Amino acid sequence: MKEHWDEIYEALDVDELTWYEEIPEPSIKLLSQCHINKDEPVLDVGAGASTFIDYLINQGFSNIIAADISEIALGKLRARLGKEKASLVRWIADDITQPIHIQDLRDIALWHDRAVLHFLLEENQRRVYLSTLKKAVKKGGYVIIAAFSLTGAKKCTGLEVRNYDHNMLAEFLGKEFILLDHFDYTYHTPAGVPRPYVYTLFQRNS
Ligand SMILES: C[S@@+](CC[C@H](N)C(=O)[O-])C[C@H]1O[C@@H](n2cnc3c(N)ncnc32)[C@H](O)[C@@H]1O
Repeated sequence: MKEHWDEIYEALDVDELTWYEEIPEPSIKLLSQCHINKDEPVLDVGAGASTFIDYLINQGFSNIIAADISEIALGKLRARLGKEKASLVRWIADDITQPIHIQDLRDIALWHDRAVLHFLLEENQRRVYLSTLKKAVKKGGYVIIAAFSLTGAKKCTGLEVRNYDHNMLAEFLGKEFILLDHFDYTYHTPAGVPRPYVYTLFQRNS
């Protein structure tokens, strides 16, 4: 998987990726509902070269963690941010299905995942993802998960995905996580192709 993602990020400019967002509006909308201090840890899992990281920095978040399986992706994000802003981010190259570094994270106030969980087709991969999330996210912390919706694409970058709706994501996280908000959102790729997503915001019981 690492080679797969590295090759894609190597081959394309970030703004050519079929998930590139100039402004990550749906994530921003859900973030605005989270009561988080700007110095609390915020993790973007499978961050890739996401502009959500730029947004967090520009908003004054000072404890940002960007994790991705692809070092190439993280390198591109680091380069875009420039030295000063990049130094505000903790960079973790890791596989969420076999985590070495991510599994040590604790007290995360926000776990943000856009278009990563849906690649985990095997039950064992999802089990590891969930147990890592539960170790990392603090009581009262938030989880934003965005995935291809039930009416959405069945594949991305040649990889099959598992489609979700908000109920499936709620069932996945379990009763400890309260669904605060959800909506369907049709993202358009740089070529203008519609890609329906479901966006969800959960809060962990205190
Ligand atoms: C469709 S992209 C979305 C990137 C980013 N979240 C965004 O919205 O721009 C999926 C990302 O998940 C990363 N990824 C895929 N499988 C992963 C895994 N097992 N562990 C960590 N990252 C993974 C990929 O490298 C890629 O950056």
